[in-house]
Amino acid sequence: MTLRCDKTEAWAALAGHYQAHGRDFDLREAFGRDPGRFAGLSFDAPEVFADLSKNLLDTATLHFLLDLARECDLEARRDALLAGAIANPTEGRAVLHTALRAPPGLGPFSEQVQQVLGDMLSYAEQVRFDAAFTDIVNIGIGGSDLGPQMVVAALDAYTGPLRRLHFVSNVDGHDIAPLLRALDPRKTLFIVASKTFTTQETMANAHAARDWFLSHGGAHIGHHFVASTTNVQAAAAFGITRCFGFWDWVGGRYSLWSAIGLPIAIAVGAEHFRELLAGAHAMDQHFATAPLARNLPVLLGLLDVWYRNFHGFASRSVAPYHQGLRRLPAYLQQLEMESNGKRVDVAGAPLPYGTSPVVWGEPGTNGQHAYFQMLHQGTDVTPVEFIAVRHASHTLAEQHRMLLANCLAQSQALMLGKTSAQAAAEAAPAAAACAPDVLAQHRSFPGNRPSTTLLLDALTPRALGALIALYEHRVYTSGAIWGINSFDQWGVELGKALCGALLPRLQSGDASGLDASTAGLLARLRA
Ligand code: F6P
Repeated sequence: MTLRCDKTEAWAALAGHYQAHGRDFDLREAFGRDPGRFAGLSFDAPEVFADLSKNLLDTATLHFLLDLARECDLEARRDALLAGAIANPTEGRAVLHTALRAPPGLGPFSEQVQQVLGDMLSYAEQVRFDAAFTDIVNIGIGGSDLGPQMVVAALDAYTGPLRRLHFVSNVDGHDIAPLLRALDPRKTLFIVASKTFTTQETMANAHAARDWFLSHGGAHIGHHFVASTTNVQAAAAFGITRCFGFWDWVGGRYSLWSAIGLPIAIAVGAEHFRELLAGAHAMDQHFATAPLARNLPVLLGLLDVWYRNFHGFASRSVAPYHQGLRRLPAYLQQLEMESNGKRVDVAGAPLPYGTSPVVWGEPGTNGQHAYFQMLHQGTDVTPVEFIAVRHASHTLAEQHRMLLANCLAQSQALMLGKTSAQAAAEAAPAAAACAPDVLAQHRSFPGNRPSTTLLLDALTPRALGALIALYEHRVYTSGAIWGINSFDQWGVELGKALCGALLPRLQSGDASGLDASTAGLLARLRA
């Protein structure tokens, strides 16, 4: 039986190592001591180069973290996951999103996967070149929205004879209502994307779209509405005849590779969609076969454990220096926090250590003018993950150089900091109304703040596929070390159930049995 991570020898060794070297680790000294630090702590994985050298670790830390992975049976568990074991026991499901991107004939369920993929891609090509559709609306939420939306934005340079693609997710009518006002029912295709075809938000929006369609002269629901779902029966009851199916072994937040990827395929075409899959598959192979010490998703997952459980860092900021990746932080929030935001282990026992950090961020350089102040000078240390892309897909070369210089400068500033003596030596602003030593304190930076930089050559479909798969496997790694089920999401259920009970009360005003706060708010909302 696998030991819980905090009962392993490696955990104790890491705790000792943290007390002796980790707590006071200084990045500037570490680089001074070891001229080979960058080379020793940077890693190549398919399509992604990772510089881990600006993190608060050394080879001894890595050594103990790798011991932890071994003591937690990470390799055996990974192999079982990839072979289709029940990795999600609370729902009794295998977890096989990797099968969706395996080349034909490889991996479990290949025949079914290739069949649906082929159907979905040929339909996508048809829509792509069908000038009758000017607007495509994806109606879905969570994994049925965030992944496709993020990828469509990221692969903007690959979108062909462009239809306008819209994503509607929120149950708030302010999401769909203004969009419907701008659409022509004769020229619009709605994709109802829902694994279950029961999600409240998606069903409300799908019904609103259908009502609007019918009341604005639309005809042929079967032509203007399609579904990506595992619940073909419910879609048929809605009036949808064209369904692209998938399976219960595809989790919502891991589903962009399945029929849920239909808007991606419409945007970038079949060939580029296959490239996205190929990039992910290359990363799958790396995760499955690279030795742990060079296995990038494993190393990043272990680094997350090191920061969360030994340094006590409760959040991680993601800073993609590419406008196309502007939805990546939102996508990662679901991937990471819905997967690893758990407080009991697989056996249901409460955990005495922290699990998922808060993941947040904005694209660079926008974040620099918002919350980077806190990252540089705030009281909490937040590891930052920079993502940079060498080649831009526009021709504004100087702006791309500015972007990259900003990215490098931020990780450098976080690490190097600035002493108050250095600050004191700078010319003071003429208007400063405080003593020079006070001003120097305000203008100094502690530095020694950790960051990782991930580099892509270009934001191609293949590179993006690899990057997303890297994140998926990294989340699996930390979840496996923590001993949790990364593939269920019971934490979203209570709110859904209470919402179902409150909905009629908003109509009736019945507040009986409610807590005083909810009753008071209900009364105010109805007043
Ligand atoms: O938020 C819970 C959740 O079940 C997510 O895991 C999922 O991605 C989302 O709802 C949407 O679910 P569905 O695709 O079934 O509509």
